[in-house]
Amino acid sequence: MKDEKIKSTIEVFVCNHSREHEEACFEKGAKDLTDKLKKWAKEETNKEIKVFRSGCLGKCSEGIAVACFPAKKYLLDVKNEDLGEIKKGLLEALQELKT
Ligand code: FES
Repeated sequence: MKDEKIKSTIEVFVCNHSREHEEACFEKGAKDLTDKLKKWAKEETNKEIKVFRSGCLGKCSEGIAVACFPAKKYLLDVKNEDLGEIKKGLLEALQELKT
């Protein structure tokens, strides 16, 4: 057996769930938000922040919903204009994780 230390990472799950006849995160622009966050995380954080599309997070009425780990925190009612604040918060969380 071999063991290896797991690199410190932040994982971000953005709900991309879509529903017929009802507004869900996908219909509120989650795909665009996810694409932008994924691109930023890949290019700017050396893959230390990973962004994933997720299914419904159970916060539909407050979507777009984003779940952040290891903070175990939801970001709710997220809009494209919140991207700058989200990136800043994620970078701060990454710094804390490393100390
Ligand atoms: S549809 Fe996004 S949290 Fe349910």
